[in-house]
Amino acid sequence: MFKIITKRQLNDQVVLMEVEAPFIAKKAQAGQFIIFRVDEKGERIPLTIADYDREKGTVTIIFQTIGASTQRLSLLNEGDYILDFVGPLGVATHFDKDIKKVAVIGGGVGCAIAYPQAKMLYNKSIEVDLIAGFRNKEIVILEKEMKNVSTNLFITTDDGSYGAKGFVTEVLKKQIDSGVKYDTVVAIGPIPMMKFVCDVTKPHNIKTLVSLNPIMIDGTGMCGGCRVTVNGETKYACVDGPDFDGHQVDFDELMIRNASYHSNEKAHICRLTGGVNNG
Ligand code: NAD
Ligand code: FES
Repeated sequence: MFKIITKRQLNDQVVLMEVEAPFIAKKAQAGQFIIFRVDEKGERIPLTIADYDREKGTVTIIFQTIGASTQRLSLLNEGDYILDFVGPLGVATHFDKDIKKVAVIGGGVGCAIAYPQAKMLYNKSIEVDLIAGFRNKEIVILEKEMKNVSTNLFITTDDGSYGAKGFVTEVLKKQIDSGVKYDTVVAIGPIPMMKFVCDVTKPHNIKTLVSLNPIMIDGTGMCGGCRVTVNGETKYACVDGPDFDGHQVDFDELMIRNASYHSNEKAHICRLTGGVNNG
C-alpha cells in the first residue's frame, strides 16, 4: 500500500499527488513511468513520473481525470492509500553528451512531464526554451515551476486568453526561423502535437524526442498492448521507450490504436454517491 502524502488540484481536471514510494524514488529518472492500481477492482494505468524526492522517498504523479481509474484515484485524499504503485518502468530519457540548447515542448497535461525534463537539463546548465501550450488561461498548470527551470518560458493558448495565441508549434517554428539553433527538441503532449512538432523539426534535421503513451497493460513487454512502429519496426513503449526518435514514429497508426478504447474509457460519476462506474 502506498500513502498519498500531498494532493493538489492543479486545474479542474488535473491533480498532483506526491506518493510515498521510497524504493521507486531511489531509482527514478526523468522519462520513466509507474503503473498504479487504485484498488483490487482497478485497471493498471501507466503514468510518467513527474518528480521524485530521493530523501523524502516520494514520487510525484500528475494526471488528468479522464477515465474511470483516474476518476477513482482523484477521489482519494492525503493520508489515503493506493493499492499498487510499481516502477520505475521504461528507459530513462537519453540526451547526447554535448548538447547546449534544447527546446522542451509541453502540450496541456503533457507539461507535467515536460517540467521534469526541463528541470533535469537546466540543472546540468543546458539552455532550455520551454514552450508550454494550453487550450485557455483557466487550465494553465505549473507556470511558476516551469519558469524556474527554463532559460525562456513561452506560454501559448489556443484562444489567446493568456500568452501567445496559437499552438506550441507556431512558437517553435518562429524560434527556428529566426535563427535559434536547438541541438535537440523534446515533445510531450497530445499525439497530433508531437506529430506536428516533428514536421517542424524534420526539415532542419533537429533530433526530436517524443514521449509516447500508448495503451499499456503489463508494462513489462509481454502483452504487446503498447506496440508502436518506429522506423518500420515494432517496438514496445513500456520496455523500449516511452521515449523514441519522433522522426521515426508512425503517429497515424498510434492515433488509430489509441482511439480504439475511447468508448470504454468514459466514466460515469454518480452525482448522489460520488461513485465511479465504467460505460
Ligand atoms: P490539449 O489537446 O489541450 O493540447 C495541449 C496543447 O498542445 C495545445 O494547446 C497546443 O498548443 C498543442 N497542440 C494540440 N494539438 C495540436 C496540433 N494539432 N498541432 C500543434 N499543436 C497542438 O492537450 P490535453 O488535453 O491536455 O492532453 C494532453 C495529452 O498529453 C494527452 O493526450 C495525454 O495523453 C498526453 N500526455 C502524455 C504524457 C506522456 O508521458 N507521454 C504525459 C501526460 C500527458
Ligand atoms: Fe504490455 Fe508493453 S504494456 S508489452
